[in-house]
Amino acid sequence: MLNKQTLKAADNICLSLEQGMCLGLVGESGSGKSTLGKMILGLEKPDDGEIWFEGKSLLTMSRRERQSVRRKIQTVFQDCYSSLNPRWPVYESIREPLKNFEKLSAREEKRTVQELLVSVGLSPDDMAKYPHQFSGGQLQRISIARAIALKPKLIVLDEAVSSLDVLIQHQILKLLDELKEQYLLSYLFISHDIMAVRSISDRLAVMHKGQIVETIHCSDPLSSMKHPASKQLLESVLPSRPRARANIHNNKEWVSNDSQ
Ligand SMILES: Nc1ncnc2c1ncn2[C@@H]1O[C@H](COP(=O)(O)OP(=O)(O)O)[C@@H](O)[C@H]1O
Ligand SMILES: [Mg+2]
Repeated sequence: MLNKQTLKAADNICLSLEQGMCLGLVGESGSGKSTLGKMILGLEKPDDGEIWFEGKSLLTMSRRERQSVRRKIQTVFQDCYSSLNPRWPVYESIREPLKNFEKLSAREEKRTVQELLVSVGLSPDDMAKYPHQFSGGQLQRISIARAIALKPKLIVLDEAVSSLDVLIQHQILKLLDELKEQYLLSYLFISHDIMAVRSISDRLAVMHKGQIVETIHCSDPLSSMKHPASKQLLESVLPSRPRARANIHNNKEWVSNDSQ
């Protein structure tokens, strides 16, 4: 006989994110991070609770209001290969949200797509190319261009740099940081990689078994984290030189490219 158990993917969570800030959400795989992100994006519905955005409840607002909020909350997922249509030139992928929400002429659309490509460090001519002609890092830049196309307020970045190698990760994190200033964005930055999250976030929330077990300001030393789940995340950081591990716990800065 099956022993049915109820799993609460996200439970008893109380978090806030101020405008222009980045909240890092970190936790082991299966801890509920994506579920929380999906609830904010309206892709999952919580059984209970409230989600507020700009003073309005996302769960009780009308369909029309929800539609207008949809453009203000965008996302970038980990898998850039499946989030872009392989049969479409990049122009079509970036243009899609503009087509759905803005009434632009063909010429304005083209100019906007070109400007977006430049703002993520690509060339205007790249709009004619197809996804298979780009590297993983470039594809993630295209996903970011699409996410900022409607000038959103909040971007949920779910493991957005996790599939990239360390050097490219660093470049994308830098780009995200610059875009945050330029477009006055707020980020919910979800990752299992505590060092990547910390490098871009203002605050860090640790999720464990569907609950937020600890939050710290990123200016606080990592050694101030007390919860066993937080400590376990720190333990799992793999520096390229094993002796550098001690520095993480002593909170001497360890950078992901290990330049010490
Ligand atoms: N659609 C679903 N149906 C059943 N269980 C799910 C579903 N989505 C996620 N879960 C479960 O919820 C938990 C949290 O998943 P998830 O939010 O994807 O975690 P994370 O993003 O931290 O890896 C996991 O135990 C996962 O197996
Ligand atoms: Mg996830």
